This record gives sequence, structure tokens and C-alpha cells, in this order.
Amino acid sequence: MHFEPLHPHFAARVVGFDMRQAIDAATAREFEQAIDRFAVLVFPAQQVDDAQQLAFTANFGPPDVGRKKAVKSADGRIPEQMIDLSNLDENGYVIDANHRRVLSLMGTRLWHSDSSYQRPAAKYSMLRAVRVPDWGGETEFADCRAAWDALPAPLRAEAEDRFAEHWVHHSRSTLGWEPTEEEIRGSMAPVRWPLVRVHPGSGRRALYLGAHARRVLGMALPAGRILLRDLQEHATQPAFVYRHAWQPGDLVLWDNRAVMHRGCRYDLAQIRDMRRTTVLDPASLDERDCGPDAEAA
Ligand code: OGA
Ligand code: MN
Repeated sequence: MHFEPLHPHFAARVVGFDMRQAIDAATAREFEQAIDRFAVLVFPAQQVDDAQQLAFTANFGPPDVGRKKAVKSADGRIPEQMIDLSNLDENGYVIDANHRRVLSLMGTRLWHSDSSYQRPAAKYSMLRAVRVPDWGGETEFADCRAAWDALPAPLRAEAEDRFAEHWVHHSRSTLGWEPTEEEIRGSMAPVRWPLVRVHPGSGRRALYLGAHARRVLGMALPAGRILLRDLQEHATQPAFVYRHAWQPGDLVLWDNRAVMHRGCRYDLAQIRDMRRTTVLDPASLDERDCGPDAEAA
């Protein structure tokens, strides 16, 4: 097995590995080291089924079911522990483009880091393509460590030691879904993360942003939102982005602590069957959740 870089900053293709077989602890460690370095691993043309994807995922930590807490998938089409990113109903037919589920999935078109709205947040996500549309539907990844390295000093100074509040409903309200009082009561409280986090496996700093971040603590709301936007525009410049064009059978694993991602436009009348598994980041529980000036906010 070896890793072939796909981009000057990050992302690599895994060559010579068959995900159908169980892996030992040493191999899992080898993957973790590769993920620490590349943040995105592409496993091309794997022939795995749902159970094999779940078994592979279990090597890397406790499962996270992310959006399922907020949005139910079409019941029974895929296992409970998987997150359904598809535009399909429970019988495998394309759902009407105006259906709530399809509109809800549009949140994944915004740059984000999975489950940043919860504590613990997500560590690795693994997305597998079962069927893909003729055009579009790629997934883009932005390298938030390289983006930090290249950030102009004044922006670094503004971001350092700041905390952002992430809320599950913020990304949704960006697209026009205003939560009802009842939805707010029934959902997770906002959580706080540093804007700049040290990535444990590499010791590198990474911007931690995305569509769920709704304000910067200790800053006026508009000033904080503009800071978030400026940092995000910086981090998602083409130089820091790898775009994965899917083939059926591909599985892509990414480290949510080091990259943001988003889905790309496709023809919603065509089948896009994508299935995700995710593991939590228990170490994120030990992170500070606000600084001195945040407390005053
Ligand atoms: C995800 C996600 C984007 C896509 O699986 O977490 O954001 O391209 N997917 O489907
Ligand atoms: Mn996602």
C-alpha cells in the first residue's frame, strides 16, 4: 500500500489497498499517520458494501450520526448508522427536487466541517459513491492548515485566540430555513470552538470555520461575521482546494479538523447515491471553549 499526492498541499490517493478485508491496529495506525499528513484520502473504486464501510469506519473511533439527529433520511434504505447524502426515497427513486429532504441536503453545498455544531465534533468522515450523476456532484475540500500557513499576519492576529459559536440552525437559516421555537427547544445548544485549532496529529494550526459558525465571541455580530467570511474566502481559494470527481465505488475519507468541504451542483433529476460514515473526535471534549474576552461577550 502507498499514498500518491493529489495536490501540492494535501490529499492523496491510496494505492494497493482493498477495503473489503479487515485491518489490524498497525494498518489503522498507518492510515492515521497518512491522514495526519494528507487530511484527505481517496480510495478509488473500492467494491465495499454498507457493512464493510461500517466495519472500516469502526477502526477509527466512536460513530457519529451527524445530521440524522436533525434530518431523518429515507427510512430503511441504508443502515441506521450511516448518513444518507442521496436524493433518493426509501425505494431508491429520485425524490422531487422540491422535497424537504433534498432542500435540506443543500446545506452540504456550503463550505463546512461536519458536526462542528456539536461537542464532541466529528473527526473523520468517509463518503462513498454508489451511483453518480453524469455531470457535476463533485465534492470539494479546502486545506485549512495550508490556509492558516498562508494567512496574512494582520488576519492571523485577528483570528488568534478568538472563538466562534457554531449552531446547527445557522447554516440552515442561511438557506432560508428559520427554525421554529419548538425546533430550537428540541435541538442542540450552540457550541464554541477556537477559530484556530492545533491539529493534534501534525502539530499544525488550522482554521476552524464553516457554515455552522454564526458569530465570533467578543466581537460585534457584523464584525465577527465579516471576519468569518474573510477567513473562509481566504481558505477556499483555488490554491487550497482539491475537487474530487466521483466514480462509483470511490470512498473519500477526510479529517474534519483539517479541512472544510462542500458538495457541487448536479442535475437533481439524476441519481446521486452517496453514503457517509463518521467518527467522533473525543479529544475535542478537552479543548477550551472560550477565552477571557469571550466570557465578557
Ligand atoms: C458530507 C457532505 C457533500 C457531498 O457527506 O458530509 O457534505 O458532496 N457531502 O455530498
Ligand atoms: Mn459534510
